[in-house]
Amino acid sequence: MELKNKDLISINDVSPDEINLILDTAVSMKEISSREIKKVPTLRGKTIVNLFYEASTRTRTSFEIAGKRLSADVINISARSSSVVKGETLEDTGRNLQAMNPDQIIVRHSCAGAPKILAEMLSASIVNAGDGSHEHPTQALLDAFTIREKKGVLEGLKVLIVGDITHSRVVRSNILLLLKMGAEVAVSGPRTMVPLFIESLGVSYVPDINDAVKDVDVIMMLRIQLERQGKTLFPTLREYSRFFGLNRDVLKNAKKDVLVMHPGPVNRGVEISPDVLSAPYTVILDQVENGVAVRMALMYLLTGKQ
Ligand code: CP
Repeated sequence: MELKNKDLISINDVSPDEINLILDTAVSMKEISSREIKKVPTLRGKTIVNLFYEASTRTRTSFEIAGKRLSADVINISARSSSVVKGETLEDTGRNLQAMNPDQIIVRHSCAGAPKILAEMLSASIVNAGDGSHEHPTQALLDAFTIREKKGVLEGLKVLIVGDITHSRVVRSNILLLLKMGAEVAVSGPRTMVPLFIESLGVSYVPDINDAVKDVDVIMMLRIQLERQGKTLFPTLREYSRFFGLNRDVLKNAKKDVLVMHPGPVNRGVEISPDVLSAPYTVILDQVENGVAVRMALMYLLTGKQ
């Protein structure tokens, strides 16, 4: 089996079988990262460009490490130090990069749809590394890998996502993926940060976090996307933390074997308390580790297509 598309723009573009293929391939890729020599020649001679118009620690670094572990040549471009600051458009930047014949371009952009524009224009394989409030498909894949690794399955699990649902690209990709794989999804957070149509996506809304955490297998906490909010959607950070923060008191209502996740970066003490961050049921750094394996798998599967 192989992936049918040359690009990964949205979780809508991949079937459950393709998701399982990526996750199964990532299991073998993870083993490579545990070796003393963390490198295989699989993508030798391939060129991968990391084109980032927005800040990133985890995604950019893990794509770079993933490419290097597979022996690809990886080039990083930050918009702030490129000719974008001289006014070059996204399309012209894409055309000029394509002229250098890369095999894959990883794109992060503040505008929803930017990676899709490049995917339609260029023959290189395009991977969406986060576009505005639209999607972050590789984050959803690494989250799914982490849940499957810890719980054994995705189907039938109950997953709660808490926070700024409206502005989060992580939540969009996660809802699509988790529902596709047979999990149940609920969200919680201030009503001002939850779209009114959320139930039409097949997701339930539970306003009180203390009720929402009962009986769920996984709790995903989200960062408040202050950079994407046009106006303040809650009175103060202190009140947000009091009503929607995850701490040990809230977790008393949850199952003993619940997993706590967060895509990062974390606002320590706002959406999640420091003691929960360091607790054994919190798997945030496992998510980061698995990000390398999942991105290795995706690069391998997509580069073959291109
Ligand atoms: N999770 C995530 O996308 O983190 P970065 O913004 O650091 O890449």
